Amino acid sequence: MTYSVSQLLTQDITLQPLEIKGWVRTFRANRFIALNDGSTINNIQCVVDFENTDEALLKRITTGSAVHIKGNLVKSQGKGQNVEIQVTSIEILGDSDPDEYPIQPRKHGFEFLRKNAHLRTRTSTFSAVMRLRSSLSFAIHKYFNENGFYYMHTPIVTGSDAEGAGEMFKVSALDAKNPPLTKDGDIDYSQDFFGKETNLTVSGQLEAETYAMSLGKVYTFGPTFRAENSNTSRHLAEFWMIEPEVAFMDLAGNMDLAENFMKSVLSYVLEHNREDLEFLEKRLLDEEKTKPQAERSEMSLIDKIKFVVDNNFKRVSYTEAIDILKNSKPNKKKKFKYIIEEWGADLQSEHERFLVEKHFKCPVILFDYPANIKAFYMRLNEDGKTVRAMDILFPGIGEMVGGSQREERLDVLKEKMKALDIDEKELWWYLDLRKYGTAVHSGFGLGFERLVMFATGMGNIRDVIPYPRTPQNAEF
Ligand code: 4AD
Ligand code: MG
Repeated sequence: MTYSVSQLLTQDITLQPLEIKGWVRTFRANRFIALNDGSTINNIQCVVDFENTDEALLKRITTGSAVHIKGNLVKSQGKGQNVEIQVTSIEILGDSDPDEYPIQPRKHGFEFLRKNAHLRTRTSTFSAVMRLRSSLSFAIHKYFNENGFYYMHTPIVTGSDAEGAGEMFKVSALDAKNPPLTKDGDIDYSQDFFGKETNLTVSGQLEAETYAMSLGKVYTFGPTFRAENSNTSRHLAEFWMIEPEVAFMDLAGNMDLAENFMKSVLSYVLEHNREDLEFLEKRLLDEEKTKPQAERSEMSLIDKIKFVVDNNFKRVSYTEAIDILKNSKPNKKKKFKYIIEEWGADLQSEHERFLVEKHFKCPVILFDYPANIKAFYMRLNEDGKTVRAMDILFPGIGEMVGGSQREERLDVLKEKMKALDIDEKELWWYLDLRKYGTAVHSGFGLGFERLVMFATGMGNIRDVIPYPRTPQNAEF
């Protein structure tokens, strides 16, 4: 019978005979293969009877090669593992030239591994990160499924700009070099594939709202695209977003949902991905040791996750946050780079970091933002100047969630769209929701990669998605 490494390492009985397939991580002293098949962070030691094995075959057991091993599982004589496989036969399924194989059995820098993204999951770090990514995404579907949400698929190609930020990738089937033109000399999109201008979606929210207003509780979990030219460790041009949307739920309910949801998925990985988390925690501890004492993190990875799971998020209004920031001295220079002069200014990431990392030292839900720095669809408060928006900020990450109660009043929404020059004809279907059976409803968007960053302790968003898309980079 064929087993996975994970199955074999958790066996407390000896098994014989058995079969296993995987990739060689190292081959030591012509005798000891460390074999990995992706099922666990751990390798299984396979002991080759080299005296009775053909020398030509031994030479082909190299780092990176794929092998099919037959043997017996026995208690290990050596230190470092409880069980090992005594190999009775070995077949090389795929050779790997040791002089050319990029993933050598030593530490590689993340920059190098990004250039070899097709092979980087052969390393312990990246296999752990991607198992965690998979586990988190399963936990997300599980949470919504158990809480009465329907999973809906929102379109990837859309005619609308959900965020109104104009950061969209155009989708066009026109001949780019020789497009049809209108009388005025503009590109004539009426002759394009869809008969109009279209783009890759920046958010599934508007379509999710339509389903919330009939199915009650829905969520999308799909790819979203932003053509913002920000080359940072937290931005991707293609990222995955989780967007729940719920009818009859107000902003307070939205905060409760987001907090409960995040705690639930993080506790899922604490329970189910312990070995990977412990491995990543140790990796981070080693990295911390190279930093000056003052810059070292106070908490380990697992403690950070536990802290989020076990403690309430702090809920603070934008106005309160501004007061705190105005009266704070963030560093030795006692100044922020951008000084908030007045109420109404948007917060910069240094302000967000100060609030979560220095002032509150926990995740913070900021709410009731000034209307003019937020998107058109957010519910205007009775004060006429703030909207029922919420951003959830996480230590070490910054903005993890953006959400709001939606404007459900047709006249107020129309007025807002007019002020922002958003064409009513483009969003006629969105306005219909406010004409026929409108009601209070809310939702949020969580950037999946930022959640994976938090759960794995990885510092760069390019290292938590298989093939990152960033400005000037769409390799693979
Ligand atoms: O705050 P954002 O732009 O909100 C929306 O798109 C809403 N329509 C969501 C909703 O209410 N349904 O994006 C939501 C989250 C951010 O908080 C951040 O975590 C993530 O998406 N995000 C990005 N992640 C990676 N790269 C980028 N370029 C991102 N832009 C936003
Ligand atoms: Mg946002």
